[in-house]
Amino acid sequence: MLRPALQNLVGLKALIGVEIGVLYGGHAIEIMKELNIKKFYLIDDFSTGGAKLEAAAKENLKDYNQVVLCVEDSTTFEPPEPVDFVYIDGDHSYEAVRKDLNIWDDKTKIMLSGHDYSSNEPGVIRAVNEFCRLKNYNLHRELSDWWILKGE
Ligand SMILES: C[S@@+](CC[C@H](N)C(=O)[O-])C[C@H]1O[C@@H](n2cnc3c(N)ncnc32)[C@H](O)[C@@H]1O
Repeated sequence: MLRPALQNLVGLKALIGVEIGVLYGGHAIEIMKELNIKKFYLIDDFSTGGAKLEAAAKENLKDYNQVVLCVEDSTTFEPPEPVDFVYIDGDHSYEAVRKDLNIWDDKTKIMLSGHDYSSNEPGVIRAVNEFCRLKNYNLHRELSDWWILKGE
């Protein structure tokens, strides 16, 4: 089932998206089943699972033509075009989420979002709250998802 943040994109066509933190690709596949995705940049440095995880993700995603699997750090990857949405679910530390938010904000047209806004991940809560306060963004939350709609 589509997570709450992604439900904002239902009905939109030819979306260009980014997921930071791919793991086995399960969530990305779920998104591609439910949304109209033209191009999906999936970024993971596979720092947690190494080569074995990378190979499994590649295998799981091989039949999806829209996917560009980017094996690198989320802060160094440069998308070749502006993107409609970003879903941040990589390194959950305060410093890393803060960096991702600052880097990806300007590259995102419709929605900046992410996972694990929960008491288990206090760094995510702190970084997202601070960022929204600083930028005067309206923060939405449901379950463990958070999101910001640009232009709101
Ligand atoms: C929580 S998992 C992602 C789960 C996935 N989004 C899902 O819902 O199935 C986090 C992933 O982020 C990756 N990761 C951690 N730090 C990263 C970084 N700086 N850049 C890119 N990927 C990173 C890890 O290798 C791991 O696979």
